[in-house]
Amino acid sequence: MWGGRFAAEPDRVMQRINASIGFDRRFATEDIAGSRAHAAMLAAQGILTAADAAEIDRGLVAIEAEIEAGSFAFSEALEDIHMNIEARLAELIGPVAGRLHTARSRNDQVATDFRLWVRGWIDATDAGLAALQRALLAQAEAGAAFVMPGFTHLQVAQPVTWGHHMLAYVEMIGRDRGRLADARMRLNECPLGAAALAGTGFPIDREMTALALGFGAPMANSLDAVSDRDFVLETLSAATICATHLSRMAEEIVIWSTAQFGFVKLSDKYTTGSSIMPQKRNPDAAELVRAKIGRIIGAQVALTTVMKGLPLAYSKDMQEDKEPFFDAADALALAIAAMEGMVRDMAPVPERLRAAAASGYSTATDLADWLVREAGLPFREAHHVTGRAVAAAEAAGVDLPALPLETLREIDGRITEGVYEVLSVEASVASRRSYGGTAPEQVRAQIARWKELLQ
Ligand code: ARG
Repeated sequence: MWGGRFAAEPDRVMQRINASIGFDRRFATEDIAGSRAHAAMLAAQGILTAADAAEIDRGLVAIEAEIEAGSFAFSEALEDIHMNIEARLAELIGPVAGRLHTARSRNDQVATDFRLWVRGWIDATDAGLAALQRALLAQAEAGAAFVMPGFTHLQVAQPVTWGHHMLAYVEMIGRDRGRLADARMRLNECPLGAAALAGTGFPIDREMTALALGFGAPMANSLDAVSDRDFVLETLSAATICATHLSRMAEEIVIWSTAQFGFVKLSDKYTTGSSIMPQKRNPDAAELVRAKIGRIIGAQVALTTVMKGLPLAYSKDMQEDKEPFFDAADALALAIAAMEGMVRDMAPVPERLRAAAASGYSTATDLADWLVREAGLPFREAHHVTGRAVAAAEAAGVDLPALPLETLREIDGRITEGVYEVLSVEASVASRRSYGGTAPEQVRAQIARWKELLQ
């Protein structure tokens, strides 16, 4: 490509360190789309003849078919996807292929390809996240009123409903989708026509190529267009947060599926057995979802580190932007799909959930609230009285609803029979009707809202 200036071939090591075709071949579709848009624009502007542009387009379409068919021969000596495609174009249509690179550079080409690729990945990921939300919503609907323990510090705190717990993740994933949509909106500007860094003297129409590729506008500064990878970093940030959510969900599934908790049964499809212990059913998929975040954060750190010291405009360092991103993108896509499958197939065990909710004095707050409401105690005093009731229950080896009235009245004479109405876990969740609260009726209202949103 640059034989005019060079007398010697690159060293083999140089070729190896320089080549990106091993991974940027994933840009093939985007690269061809960019080239076709560019050639059409050059013709419309009279920079290429219509006949040459048609030749080039025909060649590019043929190359796309070869790549799809798997018959395209990628060459490391040709360094990257851009030069692989251009070289093949020359083989197919002859010297006219050399006219395609008028008024552009690999610098604006690769930036355009990458934006297109990330945009496509965001769209696919958004669909995957919506599917996961639907799976969670189906769980929420089926178990809107199942009572389970809510935890803080992984200690039983207050009873909540299964539906409420599922919906918590629906909300988180809704924000993940919002963050990806924000990143998509900002990245959807077209670098093509920035050329190497300074723009071009040819009378190109950047609006036309931007429009043809589905971008909202051409990027307004040619230096910025070829220099920045903030769109990758922003997408990785959103991906990292999303992976955090998936990882926490996975951690809960791991805990819930233990014999000790027994909150859920996982399906055969998302678990594995042991080669030695016949009784085992291991939540491998959940564990791997929990672990995938390592790659995603790793990619974010790697690329931030690559970018942070680069002077404008393009430096070859930026070729190192792709592998970490592809790895993170693949990891997150797989994690989302696995999580969706696990959630869809997992079966909550209502008896176990309820029994766990009813242990650990989970309705102590309800007792304290009752003392405030019905007996007029200040909350701090009610807290103290309730603490003594819990201690009495613990000493007697029972839970709060099983404490005899005499025992409660010995602790505080203002307690009456009516207190038992608030001590059951069902009464506890039913009472929490504040907006966003755990009461089944609130949960059902939120399910209805989400169903509408997810249509
Ligand atoms: N393979 C290169 C990359 O991934 C394409 C851009 C090359 N530009 C250059 N000036 N060497 O970044």
